Amino acid sequence: MATDQNKFQAIISHCKEYGFIFQSSEIYDGLSAVYDYGQYGSELKRNIREYWWKSMTQMHENIVGIDAAIFMHPTTWKASGHVDNFSDPMIDNKDSKKRYRVDHLIEAHAEKLEKAAGDALLEKMDNLIKNDDFPGLRDLIIENNIKCAVSGTTNWTDVRQFNLMFSTQVGSVAEDASEIYLRPETAQGIFVNFLNVQKTGRMKIPFGIAQVGKAFRNEIVARQFVFRMREFEQMEMQFFIRPGTQQEWYEYWKNERMKWHLGLGISQDKYRFHDHVKLAFYADAACDIEYDFPIGFKEVEGIHSRTDHDLGSHQKFSGKKMQYFDPEINQNYVPYVIETSIGLDRTVLLVLSEAYKEEDLSKDGKEDSRVVLSFPPKLAPIKLAIFPLTKKDGLPELARELMADCKQDFYCFYEEKDAIGKRYRRQDAIGTPFCVTIDHQTKEDGTVTIRHRDSMEQERIPMSQVKELVQKAIR
Ligand code: GAP
Repeated sequence: MATDQNKFQAIISHCKEYGFIFQSSEIYDGLSAVYDYGQYGSELKRNIREYWWKSMTQMHENIVGIDAAIFMHPTTWKASGHVDNFSDPMIDNKDSKKRYRVDHLIEAHAEKLEKAAGDALLEKMDNLIKNDDFPGLRDLIIENNIKCAVSGTTNWTDVRQFNLMFSTQVGSVAEDASEIYLRPETAQGIFVNFLNVQKTGRMKIPFGIAQVGKAFRNEIVARQFVFRMREFEQMEMQFFIRPGTQQEWYEYWKNERMKWHLGLGISQDKYRFHDHVKLAFYADAACDIEYDFPIGFKEVEGIHSRTDHDLGSHQKFSGKKMQYFDPEINQNYVPYVIETSIGLDRTVLLVLSEAYKEEDLSKDGKEDSRVVLSFPPKLAPIKLAIFPLTKKDGLPELARELMADCKQDFYCFYEEKDAIGKRYRRQDAIGTPFCVTIDHQTKEDGTVTIRHRDSMEQERIPMSQVKELVQKAIR
């Protein structure tokens, strides 16, 4: 399977060098699978979050947003099934003591095989997972001579289930402390607020509730940068519908969500749908939207038809009626749900993977190159960089005037150090779509040079038109 590990490593280094993403607590040698967003990464992430939020809430009159707490009553996780079922089959290597998620271990091995052999191995694995056949999975690992990457041996334990939730205590002293969980998904904050939102918002089915927030999972395989983290952000939407209409809404949301992805300016061939092999017992359809990352096609979003499982289960555990009276059919029912759930950090990685380019600009025997992040202007951390050509002759004052005019409307960056060419390259590396240079001609006729990031073309336009040009590009 074609992967581009070099590009993946280059993106990770670039993110660190240019203030996008740092390893958490780096001065203490870092914390595995936990990352911090730097000055440009946090802006990029905020813009993606905003793009999703607007497309869900502002653009859909029947979807509203909430912001529920991370801590929830512990019974929530009994009702949702996470206490009993939120686990993955794991296997330990007895020599290295390293633990692996079984599917990841087998998938990594399949990637090294010829396509037909790799596909056959994955098919066998899928069937065993579907039947919860743990001894069979262990046999498959042994038969295929799959070795631990650290010890190089096949000295494996049995396959066991391992719960992925983090727990902690609430309460001031140990005696009255009680165990609660850090939420492993944001969705349950939506379900437990279904009645509150439906009643106070006078929402009529079909309607949706959207939420963005942190989720926590004790992931075992933790070596894929922000693709798989222990603390991450999800953007989820639960769409409540009349039972019996789920097939139609499932198709609707598959279509809508793909349109959102393509709206990032990414071509269709970089995406594919992957239907789930093993459906949760309550689900009647589920698929992933996969993107072609430098590490291969991987899940970025899940679309799930969850029937009335979640609301029905909360009704049972809480004793509160989670029902809706549908005036059109004069009936009470527990609504069915279509869920769309996308990882914000994975989307950041997707946008970075799509934007990252190393360009050879050598000309007439003179070697030159640049790294450019071709973000869609609406997602770029900085929209406009403003450079006075020199630090004197009144040019900084003119540049500051433009900065004052634009910074209320979008993120600008001001710089007067170094040669212009060097300043351009620094902005290319953080993905700024436009740079403006103020020079001596600006003083005479009020025009500036605007430089376009992707084409590197420069044109002279009146300074008074800069703001509008940028606004048009980011709209
Ligand atoms: N409420 C449904 C749910 O949580 P999921 O498939 O487990 O479904 C949804 O997660 C999305 O959250 C995934 O498609 C992925 O983008 C993101 N995600 C899940 N685990 C993640 C992790 N450990 N690190 C980063 N993103 C993760």
